[in-house]
Amino acid sequence: MYGTIILNNAIENSISLLGKYKDSIDQSGNIFVLVRNEVDAVGDVTSDFLDVIYAATSIGYLYVNTIVVPTDDRINSDLPDNVLYIIWLAKDKNHFFNKDVIRESHIWKDVEWGKRAKNYNPKGKDPGNVWIPTKDDGKAHITDHILLSLSDVINRLHSCSAQKDLGTLYVTSKGIDKLGLIDGIHIEQLSSPDVVTESKPYRPNPPQISQQKQISGTVVFGTSERMTKIPNGSVNVVVTSPPYWDLKDYFKEGQIGQESYQTYLNRLYNVWKGCYDKLSEDGSLWLNINIRTKNGSVILIPRDFVLQCKKIGFHYKGVLIWHKSSGIPTHDKNIVDRHEYVLVFSKSEKLNINSRICDFSDYKNGKINGGLFWNINRKAGSVGKQFIHPAIYPNDLVSRIIQITTSENDMVLDPFLGSGTTLIAAIKEGRNCIGYEYNEGFKELIISRYFMEVGKDNITFIESKNKR
Ligand SMILES: C[S@@+](CC[C@H](N)C(=O)[O-])C[C@H]1O[C@@H](n2cnc3c(N)ncnc32)[C@H](O)[C@@H]1O
Repeated sequence: MYGTIILNNAIENSISLLGKYKDSIDQSGNIFVLVRNEVDAVGDVTSDFLDVIYAATSIGYLYVNTIVVPTDDRINSDLPDNVLYIIWLAKDKNHFFNKDVIRESHIWKDVEWGKRAKNYNPKGKDPGNVWIPTKDDGKAHITDHILLSLSDVINRLHSCSAQKDLGTLYVTSKGIDKLGLIDGIHIEQLSSPDVVTESKPYRPNPPQISQQKQISGTVVFGTSERMTKIPNGSVNVVVTSPPYWDLKDYFKEGQIGQESYQTYLNRLYNVWKGCYDKLSEDGSLWLNINIRTKNGSVILIPRDFVLQCKKIGFHYKGVLIWHKSSGIPTHDKNIVDRHEYVLVFSKSEKLNINSRICDFSDYKNGKINGGLFWNINRKAGSVGKQFIHPAIYPNDLVSRIIQITTSENDMVLDPFLGSGTTLIAAIKEGRNCIGYEYNEGFKELIISRYFMEVGKDNITFIESKNKR
């Protein structure tokens, strides 16, 4: 009987091993599945970490969290994918977990989350689900971001879950560097190697610069289930964060998110189909969403969106990790959520993206920069306390996507405009933008934010007849 099992194989093999080892793990045990998303020869994702979570929860595992760790390779021809996912599963909510051994160093003295003294723990900061340890100068400045090796990752997983009298098993069909591993980890080397399609290395296009013309911003108040105000093929990129199911209220009856889960998905299918029709042939769709848990069960909204978009005809190109340094501390058996996903889809086989993606350097470590980790913190302060919208995403996240996917004067669409972030980011980048928002009550908020950040009030507002 094992207390910890760590699987590191191709996705299909890991899924079958999850079934095989279910009875070999103690009731208090943990199982960690190390996953790289897999792509075919044209750079479309064929299987991903969401498939593993879906398979694991279907056979009765409890989903605890997904930890992400940068790697020093880039495995996709269309996006520089450097994400190692660790799917953390347990048999029972009372699983063993010792978070003290993986706590992070405090950057601020004697205070922690929310810079409050009451949240300070002298053993270290509550660990998060993005594993990029830092070094600092003791004066609140980070001096280094550390890239963990595979052995470091396995040792950490072992340290936080190892129990007296219960062993740790590492099962892999990949090569093993035993040197770095802690004594006491039992290794099972599978003989049949994984068959994974060889993918081409990432090669971005150079950015394009065009002539400056008059740019415009338009907001349509109405449902984005029928975007009749936009000609087909006229949009270059869609950037959006849709409403979650059954989580937040945007203060207007008939909004998406308050209905049954199946109706929610059906309504969003119409939005994604509309986006597909409005996009030009080289256009792409960038969807910010997270996995949602409710009463202990997992709702795989991102996976359902992937399945929907593939059915519509989109090519699924990968997942960007929006790394947020903040996060609300959680209970003893879990770690803090410090990331959200941005799912990336293209209309044609090749994702149109330029080399600027390699220029974002959020980390003090050149081996981490230029991949799919973007460390962007929400600047709630810049939005101002008088503005009320419950789910604003940061300008920088949108600006970067616009910079790498479009040229000046191109058209950006956000079917869930909310407080107007996408509109502000697009206009600031010299792109046109059209946004749909169901609640016209956000008009004043959009105007004030826009005026504050762009310095003008030249937005066109349209009331759509498509109320629902
Ligand atoms: C997650 S928020 C978007 C926030 C936005 N990214 C920002 O930074 O402000 C989702 C938005 O979708 C809007 N919404 C809900 N149902 C809608 C529908 N049928 N059509 C268009 N917008 C809708 C909500 O009112 C809410 O403002």
